[in-house]
Amino acid sequence: MHTPLRPVARALSLLSLVALTPACDPGDEPPPTPPAPVERPASLDVPMKSQRDGTSHRAGENCMACHGPNGLGPGRFTVAGTAVTGDRRPNPNTTLLLSTERNGGGTVVLTLEADANGNFYTTEPVPLPDTPLYPKVMNATSEAYNFMPFPTASGACNVCHVGRLPVFLE
Ligand code: HEC
Ligand code: HEC
Repeated sequence: MHTPLRPVARALSLLSLVALTPACDPGDEPPPTPPAPVERPASLDVPMKSQRDGTSHRAGENCMACHGPNGLGPGRFTVAGTAVTGDRRPNPNTTLLLSTERNGGGTVVLTLEADANGNFYTTEPVPLPDTPLYPKVMNATSEAYNFMPFPTASGACNVCHVGRLPVFLE
């Protein structure tokens, strides 16, 4: 039950280590160069939304690294991620809900169908990050579902759901 949280815990302890490390003397290692900002042409800002049986790519990666203000992928995704099965294969039967209360309760703000790669994405406006929302995933061909027990302020699901913590659904 607690093992899936370990990568998150490790990332947090690394962060606190960094925070505790005293500043280096000038003349030590040069600070890492931030990535150069990209010139994102406005022509890339097209509406996009995943559909059942559609295709995409890069399952499991952070889609917003490219499909966002600092990337060159078409569409600025507001919510995107990847759903896998219990044995970690793409789950193309997934339907994602974002709602104002846990387990699909309250108002359902967004419904998305995963495509053939198990990826779901949209460029529609959502009230994130001001109004955090509760994700729920459901299998369109069975009774299976799974939901996040606390709300997320970010629609970039794969930033957290990586490695041993994917969005999974039987
Ligand atoms: C490293 C950058 C990068 C990442 C990460 C990335 N994409 Fe893309 N994506 C692109 C680029 C560039 C294109 C346009 C060229 C192409 O089709 O490969 C594209 C094209 C697409 C298209 C096809 C658009 C069309 O109309 O043909 C879809 C759908 C898509 N991406 C979805 C996703 C999803 C979902 C994710 C995350 C699981 C993702 N992408 C991650 C860069 C990226
Ligand atoms: C800030 C990090 C973060 C973001 C962003 C995030 N999640 Fe989660 N999510 C978690 C954590 C941590 C858990 C708890 C894992 C556990 O209990 O083992 C979780 C649990 C879940 C679960 C419950 C089942 C499981 O896989 O453990 C689902 C389903 C889920 N998230 C879906 C989503 C979706 C869909 C998105 C994007 C709309 C999203 N999450 C965004 C961190 C995040």
